[in-house]
Amino acid sequence: MTKFFTLIPAAGSGSRMSSELPKQYLYLDNKPMIYHSINTLYHNQLITSIFVVLAPDDCDWIKYDWSEFSSKLIALNCGGATRAESVLNGLTTAKQKGLIDTNDWILVHDAARPCLTAAQLEKLINELTHDEVGGLLAVPVSDTLKRSNIQDRVTHTEPRENLWQAQTPQMFRYELLIKALQNAEKLHFTDDASAIEALGFHPKLIQSDAYNFKVTYPRDLALAELIIQQRNNP
Ligand code: C5P
Repeated sequence: MTKFFTLIPAAGSGSRMSSELPKQYLYLDNKPMIYHSINTLYHNQLITSIFVVLAPDDCDWIKYDWSEFSSKLIALNCGGATRAESVLNGLTTAKQKGLIDTNDWILVHDAARPCLTAAQLEKLINELTHDEVGGLLAVPVSDTLKRSNIQDRVTHTEPRENLWQAQTPQMFRYELLIKALQNAEKLHFTDDASAIEALGFHPKLIQSDAYNFKVTYPRDLALAELIIQQRNNP
């Protein structure tokens, strides 16, 4: 039977956060940011294991107690120089350990999207389980988009029709994802779907909402905290 696994690339330094501590460990509602994604993924009954891909020199992970997630949570110290390399290394290591099969579904989720909800996760899995390619959570663009020149002058307005903002999780079968990432090894794709597209496939967009945003700048952290606190104390 096909299984579902999640992989969280968490080997980035988060340079845009202007913080010494990698952003996945910054505190959000008294927990490291990555805790919140792990917690949502852990409580989905379909997910067999959660792989967290850490930088080889990560010395923060072991400072926290992860025992509430039992053996469903597996840390792999094999992160790479880019996000794509971290995902590729994580998949390769998990496969070498005999933990996943080629036909299994892999849901790749950024450590920096702590506001993912159980409902968004369920919707993604339900809508893609029988899909031939796989896909990703995404939000239709609502703002007017301007293209600029190097002086920050508008050159033209981009039509926003059919434009989406990609989010995670992104869900693909192991075999297709590993092939796509190996093919894209020298390219610096910022998400998994781009690597799949480079093979000529068309991932399906599953409509999500703006709450599942990526924490990138310091101001994002305060917003994520407000959202999580409100959910925890409705
Ligand atoms: O930097 P950015 O926010 O785009 O990173 C997205 C995700 O990829 C984060 O969870 C980050 O930890 C991860 N990443 C990684 N290995 C890298 C760079 C980023 O696992 N070399």
